Amino acid sequence: MKKSLKKEIEELRNEIHYHNHRYHVLNHPEIPDYKFDELLYKLKHLENLFPHLITNNSPTKSVGGITLLNIKKINHIIPMLSLNNVFNEKDLFLKFLNPIKNLLNKTKNYFCCELKFDGIATSLLYNNGQLIQASTRGNGIIGENITNNILYINDIPHKLQGNNFPSILEVRGEIFMKKVNLNILNQNNIFNKQFANTRSAVLSFLRLKNINNNINYNLLNFFSYGIGFIQSKKKISSHIKILKQLKNYGLPISKHTTICTSLKEISFFYEKIKRERNNFLYNIDGIVIKIDNIKIQKILGCTSHAPKWAIAYKFPPQEKITILKNIIFQIGRTGVITPVGKFKTIKIDGVNISNASLYNINEIKKLNLKIGDVIVVQRCGDVIPKIINIIKKERKNNITTNIIFPKICPDCKSILKIKNYNKKTLYCPSDLNCKSQLKGYLKHFISRNAMNINYIGNQLINKLVDINLVKNPIDLFNLNINTLNKIPHLGNKSILKILNAIEISKKTTFTRFLYSLGISEVGLVTANNLNKHFQNLSNFLNADLKDFYSISGIGKKIAYNLYKFINDKKKLYIINKLVNEIGINWNNNIIISNFFYKKKIVLTGKLISINRLKVIEKLINLGAMIYNHISKNIDIIIVGKNPGSKIFKAKKLNIIIINEQQLLELINKN
Ligand code: IVH
Repeated sequence: MKKSLKKEIEELRNEIHYHNHRYHVLNHPEIPDYKFDELLYKLKHLENLFPHLITNNSPTKSVGGITLLNIKKINHIIPMLSLNNVFNEKDLFLKFLNPIKNLLNKTKNYFCCELKFDGIATSLLYNNGQLIQASTRGNGIIGENITNNILYINDIPHKLQGNNFPSILEVRGEIFMKKVNLNILNQNNIFNKQFANTRSAVLSFLRLKNINNNINYNLLNFFSYGIGFIQSKKKISSHIKILKQLKNYGLPISKHTTICTSLKEISFFYEKIKRERNNFLYNIDGIVIKIDNIKIQKILGCTSHAPKWAIAYKFPPQEKITILKNIIFQIGRTGVITPVGKFKTIKIDGVNISNASLYNINEIKKLNLKIGDVIVVQRCGDVIPKIINIIKKERKNNITTNIIFPKICPDCKSILKIKNYNKKTLYCPSDLNCKSQLKGYLKHFISRNAMNINYIGNQLINKLVDINLVKNPIDLFNLNINTLNKIPHLGNKSILKILNAIEISKKTTFTRFLYSLGISEVGLVTANNLNKHFQNLSNFLNADLKDFYSISGIGKKIAYNLYKFINDKKKLYIINKLVNEIGINWNNNIIISNFFYKKKIVLTGKLISINRLKVIEKLINLGAMIYNHISKNIDIIIVGKNPGSKIFKAKKLNIIIINEQQLLELINKN
């Protein structure tokens, strides 16, 4: 009897590990979340009854399969070294190949050539195939524990695939961010700041103290490029075989890794990657060349800083010279005026660039910039170009002209002011009366992480503001068929979709609402901290400067922005209208682990024992989203008496079907 129970628990664990892998690694779950929850619940139940059968790697001891350790710093079992760099073929030969020539074969050598990913070096520790810890490189000896922060990165498996893995395996690789994801992050101002490159954005993610559900951790990716500590009887003789093995375990490796057998082949690979680097979805800053034979690697060994069997062959810094043609002053959603340098188009690694942000007027003063100057432009972190210098000796005084800082707003013509705290940031004080600011603010307000109003794009916002249909966020909610009919090329179907989306958006979360208010420098993370601290709107609106300042992660400047915001009568008027008249509402206590959380639901047919509107309200409070039409994106259809044709479509699309009885049971369970 005991034996079969043990077996049952073991099988249950394996099943959960399997689904964890499908969900977190392959991003391709086989079963709906509630089925998974049921399995986990069953296991928890059995383990509660028979605690002596609990094992260390049980998924019940972990979040998503990872046993959580609460340690801030981690001593690396084997130091995580850096790499020596070269920038040209000559140095590659002189500094890497020549010193180790005695160990190289006269005719043919195997060099494993990889991409040099521009991210954060990471160590993942697997115990019997179960991920137990993740850390950054830190100073190479001691790293930071980032186990909690990497839980939601889909590329990182929580459980290794197969069963032939070493009892302990330390996987090393790079956590990085795709270029598009940097844009998403910056556009949504998720961290209250703009990141100049993907690397610094990754670091911010990995340093987050409070992991919260509002942040999409799938903005990060991972490639493995080697191993650290390993406890295994089987020794693998070559680096590329190790990478292949890691791939079999379910870890992502780059498909660009290539074996080269000579300096000529290495150079060919380098040039090819250099040419193509801008087509990659992520940033790379060179290639890494590794001696493939592990025995030779061991003989060569390492210095205190870097291995002698590997080298980074980096791409030259991406800088070019051009001529500054003009400076324009752009106005952002918070009224801040940003100077943008317009220059003669240059091509940096295949990308045409003709303008770069100059951040603020001080930057112009610092560079002593004049129109007509010969300037040096750098593609910083491959994404945002920057004017880093001027070539003074090339300045021709007869053709250069001084830059005149604006005194009035380029849009609403109000007199510009300068921010007190730094004396270098110009801003337009007209707030939402300035159409540029209003457009910027509304685009933020409707965005995915804010009120998430679908079907209203940036173009529509521009039109709505231009023809004075919308003067503030309240007006958005007062749009109707008649007013939207005034917008050219907007069909009836689109209008209905927009109105429906506006209606759906009224049910939100306190975090989203706070974030949507567009308070200067309050991104999603701060909004979430505010939510946690104040719990409700009235506490928030009655806070004192000191209260804001006492919240961890909120410094003087943000505290002041918040205080100023809640003491601004116009803002209070808007908040009051949105909440009390428009009916924007939220329920802070959504039980995230409930069956309906984040599910997209359609109802069809008549419900007998419960009021339809009550059901909808309850489901929304549980975090569900209610839709009218069946599509492949819908998760559940709730079927009452005499259902319509929706049920046939739902069956075809394999959508979960729930009847009234089941609905009541599930609602009551939650
Ligand atoms: S091997 C002991 N391979 O480059 C060997 N590193 O500049 C150490 N990096 O800290 C690393 N891509 O973060 C290796 N294919 C690759 C890499 C790579 C990026 C990073 C890694 C390391 C840094 C050294």
